[in-house]
Amino acid sequence: MRTLLTGATGFLGAQVAARLLAPGVGRAGAATAAAASSGPVEPAERIAPVERIEPAEPVELAVLVRAPSPAQARQRLWRAWQVEYDFATFRELLRHRVRIHCGDLTEPGFGLPDQELVELITGTESVVHCAAAPGRRAERNCQLNSVGGTIELVRLAHLAHLDHGLRRFTQLSTTAVAGRRQDDLVTEETADGSWDRPDLGPHGRSQLLAEQLAARLLPPEVPRTVLRPSVILGDSRRAATTQLDLARLLAALVRLPVLPLAGEHRLDTVGVDYVATAVAELHRRPQLRHQAYHLTAGQAAPTLREVTAALGADPRFLPAAGRLVRGLTALPGADRSRAVRLLRASWSHLTWNAVFDNTRATAELGFTPVPFTRFAAPLLGFLREHRSRYPYLAYPADREDTPR
Ligand SMILES: NC(=O)c1ccc[n+]([C@@H]2O[C@H](COP(=O)([O-])OP(=O)(O)OC[C@H]3O[C@@H](n4cnc5c(N)ncnc54)[C@H](OP(=O)(O)O)[C@@H]3O)[C@@H](O)[C@H]2O)c1
Repeated sequence: MRTLLTGATGFLGAQVAARLLAPGVGRAGAATAAAASSGPVEPAERIAPVERIEPAEPVELAVLVRAPSPAQARQRLWRAWQVEYDFATFRELLRHRVRIHCGDLTEPGFGLPDQELVELITGTESVVHCAAAPGRRAERNCQLNSVGGTIELVRLAHLAHLDHGLRRFTQLSTTAVAGRRQDDLVTEETADGSWDRPDLGPHGRSQLLAEQLAARLLPPEVPRTVLRPSVILGDSRRAATTQLDLARLLAALVRLPVLPLAGEHRLDTVGVDYVATAVAELHRRPQLRHQAYHLTAGQAAPTLREVTAALGADPRFLPAAGRLVRGLTALPGADRSRAVRLLRASWSHLTWNAVFDNTRATAELGFTPVPFTRFAAPLLGFLREHRSRYPYLAYPADREDTPR
């Protein structure tokens, strides 16, 4: 039996895959200090090679990848998973513990041939749903992939449950489902809004709708968990990371002598290693106290002044200038500039001063995320050294894996 993981080619899904495949998901990466190196990840820093992974109950994954052929799916997975594995380990995992299904969540039956769909239904013991169309993408894209995709996935989960019983359905969502919160400490209870809130962005609205669909359509006896990270930024174990938008913006801002922001406003971000470890750990637990958890920095979220200090800068904070920035970025044609698009997309994180309470998750897990200020400087070093791009390794030439 396998855990079906969606979104395995994504930023978070790749890390969740590594935690699910690791033996005894534990605290490594959650409480460890920041890595000091700023280069691409050396194999020794990655998850233990597969030979050394001998879990009592080896987890096998089924991953759904949008690709026209298995060879292309392997290439797409390698791009996402190389942040955790060297190629030899990656290949061993694909040979022995990972079954790839080339499909699209929004297609009926994921577009899989009947026999493969039946295999997936009868072989799925639990589901981790990490696929979404996140970020600032257009409403239609969010609705199609996040909402439409969740409907198809819930249909499959339901069939698997009727066939043999589903152990757990874990759904990744986002703190953006809370809508616009200014100067607020938001708990899971107070985050539960209604999906027609006018201040929900496309991503928040589609994720909230996806949450509600799963809640209503899954049989009530299926254990269902909703996990809502805040902004995921960096990796507390090492400098290298692949999601770089907000990091790029911070890197640009700390060069300025004056920032149009309030220094005492807090920035709730978490490292991807913490989120992935928490997802895998909570997914494995036989019982959980709650249905929804924030995976966030919570009350330990640093202020912007603390963040800039950790990045080696001491700018003057001038929040009154924020209006001017908003006005300039709203000018027609301004969004042709990449910097303006980045600023617009991240402005809410820098100005809302909202913190998402993480008491539930930390009580359940027994560990807390490493504060961003502890690994901000290596992340900045990585960006500078690699010109704000992850130095992806090409898929090694190999006849078996060359797409036809
Ligand atoms: N990253 C963050 O800062 C953050 C913060 C809070 C919450 N989250 C939540 O974490 C989850 C994952 O986010 P992420 O940052 O990892 O996103 P991401 O890097 O964009 O990955 C999204 C994944 O979903 C897959 N996907 C989308 N539409 C699909 C479809 N129709 N069929 C099959 N697969 C599809 C993508 O596949 P392709 O590779 O084919 O596009 C990709 O693997 C989301 O639920 C998001 O709301 C993320």
